[in-house]
Amino acid sequence: MADDALPEELKGRFVDEFPIVVEGLVNRFGTQTVHDNLSLEVRQGEILGVVGGSGTGKSVLMRSIIGLQRPNDGDIRVFGKSITEAEPDEEIGVRSRWGVLFQGGALFSTLTVGENVQVPLKQFYPEISKELLTDIARYKVMLSGLPEDAADKYPSELSGGMKKRAGLARALALDPELLFLDEPTAGLDPIGAARFDQLTRELKETLGLTVFLITHDLDTLYEICDRVAVLADKQVIAVGTIPELLETEHPWIQEYFNGPRGRAAQASQKRDKRKAATSSSRSMDNRPPKRA
Ligand SMILES: Nc1ncnc2c1ncn2[C@@H]1O[C@H](COP(=O)(O)OP(=O)(O)O)[C@@H](O)[C@H]1O
Ligand SMILES: [Mg+2]
Repeated sequence: MADDALPEELKGRFVDEFPIVVEGLVNRFGTQTVHDNLSLEVRQGEILGVVGGSGTGKSVLMRSIIGLQRPNDGDIRVFGKSITEAEPDEEIGVRSRWGVLFQGGALFSTLTVGENVQVPLKQFYPEISKELLTDIARYKVMLSGLPEDAADKYPSELSGGMKKRAGLARALALDPELLFLDEPTAGLDPIGAARFDQLTRELKETLGLTVFLITHDLDTLYEICDRVAVLADKQVIAVGTIPELLETEHPWIQEYFNGPRGRAAQASQKRDKRKAATSSSRSMDNRPPKRA
């Protein structure tokens, strides 16, 4: 729905409720059509998982939303401001309200982690003093679960998981309301991936973020996503909770969530839930756990 068509009193509510609204998006590269009339609404305060086969246009969708990819057609609004009508460097007052962790991390290799975090700060707040920049960067590094001294290290000195956290620290530099994560757990071992998921969830809850999370990781979808959007056939073919998606007939959705890996992720989540339930009932009745 175009926001302009709404009555005045509803406009604010619509914007508050859906910080991202994509309508009728079309993206083409030469003769290849990646998106054809794609629409999507992201709700305030949710972690929206975005899934789809390789090359279905997840990253292109994210780049369109943040204005790095100019679509052939359609309308994209972030916090009610049109991204599609604005020039890439035009000041529309929303670019400082989001943070992005690109696929692969994309840290500047010649800068330390701290200096990487300072890049967006310097861009949007050139007046901040050097001391304050250093302090803010250190704080963001720690917020991302890295030791304080990681701020002085170069990306090449970090493990894969630490690099992701450094990228996250940079994405959080401007205290964003919206966080874009493009395959943040790809390439991490299962423990590192689970820790990163946990961190994402905690940050979302403590900072009140809305998170647009592209992922292939079924565990991530089950563990931390409030809803999942499925990209296939050049569109978002379904958005909902995983149980809602399981009710749809689409073959890709069925194969993805009900295939062997999907079932394993489902089973592991059920086990975790049971474990959590038994440990909390034990602590409530104060009796020592029975031995099997
Ligand atoms: N700048 C570009 N120029 C030409 N083709 C591109 C460009 N960016 C992406 N594509 C193509 O668009 C399709 C979707 O890409 P992408 O969004 O990166 O997929 P994924 O869903 O794996 O993130 C791919 O076929 C890719 O080759
Ligand atoms: Mg991608």
